[in-house]
Amino acid sequence: MGILIKDAMVVLPEGEEDKIAKHSIYIEDDKITGIDNEPQGFKAEKTIDGKDRLVIPGLINAHTHTYMSTFRNVADDLSFMDWLFKTIDPLEAQLTEEDAYWGSCLGQLEMIKSGTTTFNDQQMHIHQTTRAVMDSGMRAVICRGLVGDTYDLEDRRLKEALEEAEDAGKCDRLKFMLGPHAPYTCAPDYLKMCADVAKEKGMGIHIHLAESATESENMRKDHDCTPIEYALNAGVFDVPTIAAHCVQVNDADMDILKSHNVSVVTNPASNMKLGNGFAPVPEMIEKGINVCLGTDGAASNNSQNMFHEMSLLGLIHKGTHATPQCISARETFRIATINGARALGLDKLTGSIEVGKKADLAIMRLDVPSMMPNNNLLASLVYSANGSEVDTVIADGRVLMEGREIKTLDEEKVYFEIRKICQRLGLDNRTY
Ligand code: NI
Repeated sequence: MGILIKDAMVVLPEGEEDKIAKHSIYIEDDKITGIDNEPQGFKAEKTIDGKDRLVIPGLINAHTHTYMSTFRNVADDLSFMDWLFKTIDPLEAQLTEEDAYWGSCLGQLEMIKSGTTTFNDQQMHIHQTTRAVMDSGMRAVICRGLVGDTYDLEDRRLKEALEEAEDAGKCDRLKFMLGPHAPYTCAPDYLKMCADVAKEKGMGIHIHLAESATESENMRKDHDCTPIEYALNAGVFDVPTIAAHCVQVNDADMDILKSHNVSVVTNPASNMKLGNGFAPVPEMIEKGINVCLGTDGAASNNSQNMFHEMSLLGLIHKGTHATPQCISARETFRIATINGARALGLDKLTGSIEVGKKADLAIMRLDVPSMMPNNNLLASLVYSANGSEVDTVIADGRVLMEGREIKTLDEEKVYFEIRKICQRLGLDNRTY
């Protein structure tokens, strides 16, 4: 199918910069086949008028747990360890496979509605994210969360992860990684096994690292090292790794991350909400570490909206460093797009609007209060937009949302099923 987006403002990469100007975009099947130059034989089955519209590359949510959207706002104002072990873990144990499917659909609805086209998911019910992605039309990197004590190649969770990767590997919107959960839930031998298997299978690793002070203190007490050194010693960094959080990192840790090309996903809302602090993002950028951005699950954010996350990222480091220059709007926008694609090994396919890349993009309204006047659109994207400006979303050349109407998932059905799950778990209809 040919789609023409005619005369819209478009964010285009220009070297290390992004430039915003008026362009027309030609899409054929799943790809962008022309910018301003109409490809030979192009036939537009659909033309989108670009007046008062801004086209951006689809945002990349580089760390989340979509199935946890069901647990939005059920465990707030708690310490990290109480949040995880006393509230979220027991609730997770009650989720059925079907529940996880609807939870993932809810997370994906929220992401599509706020301009995200690709996400990186760590899941307990891996088959259900796969199923929900097949239905939603998004692009995703998926891993099954792995926890364990020993080197055991027959481990049930690992086998599940590998089987799913093999089964669903045929859909080119899906990619699989291995997901050892965190140093405090993976014993050294288990983590080493994950690294060995990832190396053998040519897979990347998606892990939580150095998220809280308690994690770092316990690691020092039990293993006399930092969480980063713990992962290094297990061989995790011998494969392409995307590490969520990295809040509690020292200078030597950052040098290790840089020298092993580890990408760091910063999750400012989750880190603040759980009282875990601020990752040293400006320092990481200074060292040349590839930093990308994620929401984390809706149980700890409590949203899947990358505009909210961009705004936080763009502001908190200026505030905590008392230096407004330490991170720019341009840098923040790249962290939410191309850097995420790079971290997931997808930068040849997505993360920017370029001829030959997949047509993964969001079309935003400029004729709304939050985007008016159009003085500096890059600053508008980072500091002013809230996601409600996203009008149309295209992923892999397919229209997932138009005029804010979702074309793939059945929105009403998702809400109906989520309400049913929450009622069953005793989460809904409480009085306050
Ligand atoms: Ni997480």
